[in-house]
Amino acid sequence: MRIGYGEDAHRLIEGRPLVLGGVAIPSERGPLAHSDGDALLHALTDALLAAIAWDDIGALFPDDAPENKNRPSQDFLHAARERVEAAGYRVAQVSAAVILDRPKLGPYRDPIRASVAELLGLSPDRVGLTFKTSEGLAPDHVQVRAVALLLPLDQL
Ligand code: C5P
Ligand code: MG
Repeated sequence: MRIGYGEDAHRLIEGRPLVLGGVAIPSERGPLAHSDGDALLHALTDALLAAIAWDDIGALFPDDAPENKNRPSQDFLHAARERVEAAGYRVAQVSAAVILDRPKLGPYRDPIRASVAELLGLSPDRVGLTFKTSEGLAPDHVQVRAVALLLPLDQL
């Protein structure tokens, strides 16, 4: 098996949409980012790439490249999944912790889980999602830490 770890953080500013795991969350603030700033998908992308020791998200999609501006982060995760499969593995399970003071994400857990599961070709019971506040330590940021478990394709 392979295990990968990834993380991401974005600063929150007024007037930007908050998207996590491909799901739009009602919020007064959203991430300042070159792409759509979906920190959950960015952390998962790095977890997948780390599991096969393949550089990282910035090597795949440089954040100063114009074609990556406001790009949907589903593209990043899709590219990572393709690399995982090309390396002879499949994603078997992921787990992510989202650290965000506001808004509460609990009401969106099921839609976010379903969206991430769909993107990774997993059943939702293989997508762990935990939400935490920063207890005021990082009120102006969204942070995500994620791990991915890969199993060899020939062990399907
Ligand atoms: O960080 P803290 O332990 O105070 O979070 C308490 C609970 O609030 C978490 O277990 C989680 O279920 C929920 N939570 C949430 N959305 C957030 C932060 C925390 O639903 N943005
Ligand atoms: Mg990011």
